Amino acid sequence: MGRNKRYGSIFLSSFSRGSYKKGKLKFPVPPFFKIGHRGSAGYCPENTIASFDHAIELGAEFLELDINLTKDGKLAVIHDSTVNRTTNAKGKISDFTMNELKNLDAGSWFHSRFAGESIPELQDVLERYSGKAGLLIEIKKPYQYPGIIEVLSEQFKGYTTDRCRFIVQSFDRQAIQHFHSLCPSIPVGVLIKNSVRGITETELMEISQYASYVNPKITMVNRYLADIIHSLGMKMLVWNINNKREAIKMNLLNADGIISDFPDLL
Ligand code: G3P
Ligand code: CA
Repeated sequence: MGRNKRYGSIFLSSFSRGSYKKGKLKFPVPPFFKIGHRGSAGYCPENTIASFDHAIELGAEFLELDINLTKDGKLAVIHDSTVNRTTNAKGKISDFTMNELKNLDAGSWFHSRFAGESIPELQDVLERYSGKAGLLIEIKKPYQYPGIIEVLSEQFKGYTTDRCRFIVQSFDRQAIQHFHSLCPSIPVGVLIKNSVRGITETELMEISQYASYVNPKITMVNRYLADIIHSLGMKMLVWNINNKREAIKMNLLNADGIISDFPDLL
């Protein structure tokens, strides 16, 4: 297999460890992280305390969350670079201070019973969940926010990695390398998704020089990709898995973690 072969375009329906039969899991289940996507985004307004608390109640061992930088240089836990979709206001995150964001309603858009849920600050999330659940922190569009990597690396001061489990991930490989150079004790991951290009073994080898995780979108995962990631000494957290059949398939491919909007599915 050439190193420049691209992975991610073929979805295999059979697995070398045996075939999957509907309703029956015939293999021992290896340990993998159960990761709540934006908390428990299938049940609660994403990236809120309600969503994170519920994910833990449902058995999530890790909470996935997204960060953007505010006007006053704080890290807001929100997926989009605007507040338009998930709050009662409009505008870019970079035009709000953290206090202004905290006063928005980030729950009613999902359901009236979540009225008053707010956009959390990363610092508050670290304090609330460290030692209780791992945090998988995604840096969103770092090129839009000069200085975000430095701000993020400062956040981890005072947290010991023997007690707290953190992983920092991004699609932006440069940003991840930069973060890794500032905070080498925090494991980092590179997110990948289907594109015309896919990903080559050479690129995966480069990533393995600094990253502990390669985290692919489920649609590009197959036996080849899983085996290469593992043979390079990295782990694989797959997103987003929202039905049991996909979860079982990923388990058979030895996924090290499964990211889901419905953590109880896992
Ligand atoms: O953790 C991976 C996944 O969250 C990436 O996609 O758009 O949900 O942040 P997105
Ligand atoms: Ca994310």
